[in-house]
Amino acid sequence: MKARDILTIAFEQHNRIISAQKSSSAALVVKDLLCKNWPIGLLLEDSPLFETDNDVLDWYERQPRALSKEFVDSIAWNDIKDHPLNPAFIPVLIYMRDIEYFTEMYYRELLRTPTGKDPVIRKFMDRWSIEENEHANLLNRFLNEAGIQTGDRWQDEARARVPRRYVIESYLLDIAAKPFGRYFHAAHMVWGAINEITTLQGYRRLAQLAGHPILEQLLGAIIQEESIHSNFYWNLARLKLSQAKFSRDLARFIIGKFWTPVGQGAKPEHETNYVVATLFQGPTGLDIFDRTVASRIERLPGFAGFKALSERVAPIVQA
Ligand SMILES: [Fe+2]
Ligand SMILES: [Fe+2]
Repeated sequence: MKARDILTIAFEQHNRIISAQKSSSAALVVKDLLCKNWPIGLLLEDSPLFETDNDVLDWYERQPRALSKEFVDSIAWNDIKDHPLNPAFIPVLIYMRDIEYFTEMYYRELLRTPTGKDPVIRKFMDRWSIEENEHANLLNRFLNEAGIQTGDRWQDEARARVPRRYVIESYLLDIAAKPFGRYFHAAHMVWGAINEITTLQGYRRLAQLAGHPILEQLLGAIIQEESIHSNFYWNLARLKLSQAKFSRDLARFIIGKFWTPVGQGAKPEHETNYVVATLFQGPTGLDIFDRTVASRIERLPGFAGFKALSERVAPIVQA
């Protein structure tokens, strides 16, 4: 879909909902009050409960880094080459490394939007972007130790391959988001939750399928940090969605219309499909995606019965 169409649809949706708000504001107030009391049990498995955005941030800031210097130093980097690595996973590792690295780009994009000006989200993003960048560097180090030379300029090369169209479209989407103000925060947080949970489950699958003990050790720590990111986004999405029906309608519309698997756009579609198909192949993989990613998003306010994620992934893994 073209950026101009995105803008048109987004504004139409905005105007339609604003006029609905004006004509039935009393009904919406009642619904909003009801929505403030979402039943507990909507949270991710083992996730703490939070009442406010600041509670989520306090929890996040209390979490220690899994990738401490001691942990990184304890990895037997020199032994990586002694264990076989199936070449099928090398493009997966390069893709994931680049997506981690592109967080810096997403971070700058988000700063331009009203979401990036939310003080809680901004504080989270400052630490989050550093952690994702370290994931990128550690995956690159693993590749090098495994004998895959990536060169000193791998970051510049990865960035140079991002299509110009992606940069323009994401800029236009930022402009489209502006009139929605705080109502757009929920959509951003749901999008972030999907990406973080997909990344987490992708790493889990990679660790299982690759059977490389040192990769498993490294991914184990990265997974812990992705899990913390997932909880932050998911819980903030839950709180933001609970605040207004407009936020829920907008988020469901945006995700349903525009979501693609993490990295697609910045990376060409065939590369994204390769990674998704390698990690979630066939009915078993789709079932895992359904249970660990899609069903968790369905538990968010306003997302009951939301099947767009699995519907988008199914043709890729069943091809
Ligand atoms: Fe990461
Ligand atoms: Fe993450």
